[in-house]
Amino acid sequence: MKSSSSALASLEPLHYHHKRERYVNKERLGLFLLWLLGATTVFSLFILYAPRPFKFSPRQELNARKVYIKPKHDYENCDLFNGRWIPDLSGPLYTNWTCSTIPDSKKCGKHGRKDVDYLNWRWKPYECELQKFDAKNFLSIIQGKTIAFIGDSVARNQMESLLCLLSQEQTPIDIYKGSNDRFRTWYFPSHDFTIKVLWTTFFVIAEERIINGTYTGVYDMHLDRLDKKWAEKLPGVDYAIISNGHWFFRPIYLYERGSVIGCVYCDAENISNVSPGFALQKAFRRALKYINACKECRGLYIVRTFSPAHFKDGSWNTGGRCNRTSPFTENQIHLGGTEWEFRTIQAKEIERAKKKGEKTGKRFEALDVTKAMLMRPDGHPDLHWNNEFMRGYSDCVHWCLPGPIDAWNDLLTTVLMKEDNLSVHN
Ligand SMILES: *[C@@H]1O[C@H](CO)[C@@H](O)[C@H](O)[C@H]1NC(C)=O
Ligand SMILES: *[C@@H]1O[C@H](CO)[C@@H](O)[C@H](O)[C@H]1NC(C)=O
Ligand SMILES: *[C@@H]1O[C@H](CO)[C@@H](O)[C@H](O)[C@H]1NC(C)=O
Ligand SMILES: *[C@@H]1O[C@H](CO)[C@@H](O)[C@H](O)[C@H]1NC(C)=O
Ligand SMILES: *[C@@H]1O[C@H](CO)[C@@H](O)[C@H](O)[C@H]1NC(C)=O
Repeated sequence: MKSSSSALASLEPLHYHHKRERYVNKERLGLFLLWLLGATTVFSLFILYAPRPFKFSPRQELNARKVYIKPKHDYENCDLFNGRWIPDLSGPLYTNWTCSTIPDSKKCGKHGRKDVDYLNWRWKPYECELQKFDAKNFLSIIQGKTIAFIGDSVARNQMESLLCLLSQEQTPIDIYKGSNDRFRTWYFPSHDFTIKVLWTTFFVIAEERIINGTYTGVYDMHLDRLDKKWAEKLPGVDYAIISNGHWFFRPIYLYERGSVIGCVYCDAENISNVSPGFALQKAFRRALKYINACKECRGLYIVRTFSPAHFKDGSWNTGGRCNRTSPFTENQIHLGGTEWEFRTIQAKEIERAKKKGEKTGKRFEALDVTKAMLMRPDGHPDLHWNNEFMRGYSDCVHWCLPGPIDAWNDLLTTVLMKEDNLSVHN
């Protein structure tokens, strides 16, 4: 991934953005009115003189509909994941006072973060408006359902955001808390709604090598052996948000049918070196294959694409930081490198699973957040987390709460609504 040195090119101040927005809108309105006048004239002539004026081809009809009827939330033909961050001074929907479930490690303000501009942006898809999270609406969509976030601590981070967004309506009952936060269940009695996190770092079985009682950081990963801890809980889940990625950047020996087929970050003799993306792809394919083959699984399976980290001038253990206080524009991010490669691999695997799903009756969707989040180097805790055990380390992987990660749940709501209407109509 390109280092974020372009961070130096700072964005214009907030108020300037606002002015420009308004100006652009006025200019657009003018052009639109002018165009409308022209279009109306042409249309009248068309009706008067065309032999069969109302026989539109489907494509024309679509375009005509786009122009004349503009629904407030026109998701149907909108790419939700292609857009930009625009200023939104209405601020976040919750604070560390109103949401009692924010983990201490995400309370950036409490741990000394002073700048607040990072809270004043919303995600704007180019082709439509993204509805801001509405707890009542969400609860009515998922009434009676179980939703599970499956993956690592970034998957958990999205769950934490969702709990806070829903806290405007209700603080759920904490009905299962394991010895750590890896498997957790929350329940909303008013709507018979359950949220779970199911921890898995790789989807498949991987064991860390221990030498003389010391963890080595080197893993043995069995690509053909699914990690049952998440997999066996899947049948009870209506909506699964599946993600993975950050754990693949370490030395990993890969096994298939018991033999080594390659290794990530190692220089062992006679073992071919493979990229983290190779391992990621194999693991994703295995997980999605399991879902397609799982007879009792009747949910909607949403893959959340890779969430980029933003370490600058080093990595997490070499003093890397992420202390930028405003987003990047689209021109300042680079769609390349390993993080984008991860996203591309995931997108391909979703398409593959979807195709198979047409035969098996399984539904897959993407929550393609990578591009949006590449633009948010300002959303991480950096040094502002409870790093008592890791003093001096910056967290440039997880996201502050509240923060830009809240947009993932706006997107999730839209994906669920879209999906709901599709299944109603089909
Ligand atoms: C909430 O955040 C503010 C700053 O954003 C901080 O001053 C305060 O201590 C925090 N309160 C709690 C209860 O975490
Ligand atoms: C493990 O410990 C034993 C005894 O202390 C030592 O002889 C051996 O070399 C160690 N093995 C490794 C791989 O470090
Ligand atoms: C690597 O392969 C060569 C040729 O097959 C063999 O002679 C050698 O012993 C192997 N080395 C290891 C460490 O397995
Ligand atoms: C921000 O991070 C850079 C390293 O990327 C560091 O050199 C600089 O001192 C930091 N600024 C502040 C205000 O902490
Ligand atoms: C889904 O259908 C309902 C009722 O027909 C409608 O109110 C809602 O706006 C639709 N949602 C989307 C995302 O199109």
